[in-house]
Amino acid sequence: MTIKTIATTPFHDQKPGTSGLRKKVKVFQQPHYLENFVQSIFNSLEGYEGKTLVIGGDGRYGNLEATHTIIEMAAANGFGRVLVGCDGLLSTPAASCVIRKHEAFGGIVLSASHNPGGPDEDFGIKYNIGNGGPAPEKITDAIFAHTQTITEYKKIDAAEMPLDKEHDFKIGEMVVTVIDPVADYAELMRELFDFDAIRELFRSGFRMRFDAMHAITGPYATTILEEYLGAPDGTVINGIPLTDFGKGHPDPNLTYARELVAEMFSPDAPDFGAASDGDGDRNMVLGNNFFVTPSDSLAVLAANATLAPGYAQGIAGVARSMPTSAAADRVAEALGINCYETPTGWKFFGNLMDAGKVTLCGEESFGTGSDHVREKDGLWAVLFWLNILAVRKQSVEAILTEHWARYGRNYYSRHDYEGVDATAANELISRLRGKLTSLPGQSFGHQKIAFADDFSYIDPIDGSESHKQGIRIGFEDGSRIVFRLSGTGTEGATLRLYVERYETDSDKHQQATQAALADLISIADDIAGIRQFTGRDAPTVIT
Ligand code: G1P
Ligand code: ZN
Repeated sequence: MTIKTIATTPFHDQKPGTSGLRKKVKVFQQPHYLENFVQSIFNSLEGYEGKTLVIGGDGRYGNLEATHTIIEMAAANGFGRVLVGCDGLLSTPAASCVIRKHEAFGGIVLSASHNPGGPDEDFGIKYNIGNGGPAPEKITDAIFAHTQTITEYKKIDAAEMPLDKEHDFKIGEMVVTVIDPVADYAELMRELFDFDAIRELFRSGFRMRFDAMHAITGPYATTILEEYLGAPDGTVINGIPLTDFGKGHPDPNLTYARELVAEMFSPDAPDFGAASDGDGDRNMVLGNNFFVTPSDSLAVLAANATLAPGYAQGIAGVARSMPTSAAADRVAEALGINCYETPTGWKFFGNLMDAGKVTLCGEESFGTGSDHVREKDGLWAVLFWLNILAVRKQSVEAILTEHWARYGRNYYSRHDYEGVDATAANELISRLRGKLTSLPGQSFGHQKIAFADDFSYIDPIDGSESHKQGIRIGFEDGSRIVFRLSGTGTEGATLRLYVERYETDSDKHQQATQAALADLISIADDIAGIRQFTGRDAPTVIT
């Protein structure tokens, strides 16, 4: 088989975000577009010749074809072996697991995460390094630089690309090994959690619903929950991955996981409900008529970590993204372990985990994870919860009520204004930046501003700096408002407002969240002029 060198010209795109390159399928369908990006990835790497590359994606429209192309290019560029999930499938956390377990050089994950899929929707591609985590900025900057100057790419046209069964075949000198996408991941979960205790929980009549949202976690959840753990058939719903996710928006939140939320807030609700996103790294956890905020979920996992065999020795520390509530900080303080506040995006956790500084980490955006892989992991979080529920034999609500009584409750909500005019959104943020020094000391009703800044982070491991990561406004009573613009949207701008209030009095722990935060929400509008700039009366999504 001959290596073809194909001439191309650069696409002058904007820089890919922290989650790789995400674009409409139509953009990816332009001739040479995907190839330019893939060749730019390879051009920015050194020393991969003869080594292993992991490839897999979330099954969205275009996944299989892109997988074929990347395999052909990996062969032409001198990789020794490709490990690819059957039919080109691998959840993001499973890809991370496979990279680590097989000591691959790196991996290419095809996903636009929770964004809708289909011919008119989104596609995405990102590169993960040998530790299993997203490429650091040094590499993504290099990839971007190559996309601006690329003149050719290499490819071997394969006569056949049989990815529908587990086996090995060769393209040129390179071996393609097609693997079961679930096996390595399921084995890791079995090492971390007490499968016997969870099996016993299901045997005792415990009822659960898992909504795979027609996305990649369907096969993982069906195998692990129904086959290994004995949950009744039908525990997993929407479990068959579809290229357009059944025309849904595969984001596990109260707005988009409609079917699950309706059941969990009904009179006959199961004991436990959970959902995961397009590529399987996010999770939402619910009790019977009860929602667990992702910030609280991280805190509960940290407080109860030693109940799971994989964490029985205790955790080294926790990390949370800046907009995530400080609930985990209280637990870390009680445990006497470190707590790190990082910018939004999973890549900041990798260095801390590689250095052994943290074991658990999480984001308010339904991302929770640990050092078992270097991505957030939806099903892992669900299994962790099941392990805790199996040991404590209490309801989700009872566990949270006790947690708040002990550590205090961080009332928390995020308001998203999606698809707003980008110029207006940028204007809102830059006006806030202009006000930062004058805000401290100002009073709004009974709330007085204690500090205001634009969050900066210096990585404690490699010293790299990240600036302008979000406007934080802190009040004297510990409440907080945060504003930032999304870095992952593909249409217009998305403004995110995060609101948090800390309440220690357990008599006041049963308020409705939006009511408990109403004052702060209106102060946020007074300070930033959200309605005026976005032209919206209400957010698109409230979490
Ligand atoms: C969003 C979330 C962030 C997460 C990222 C990737 O980014 O807010 O926590 O890491 O998706 O899943 P954003 O759109 O806010 O930039
Ligand atoms: Zn995702």
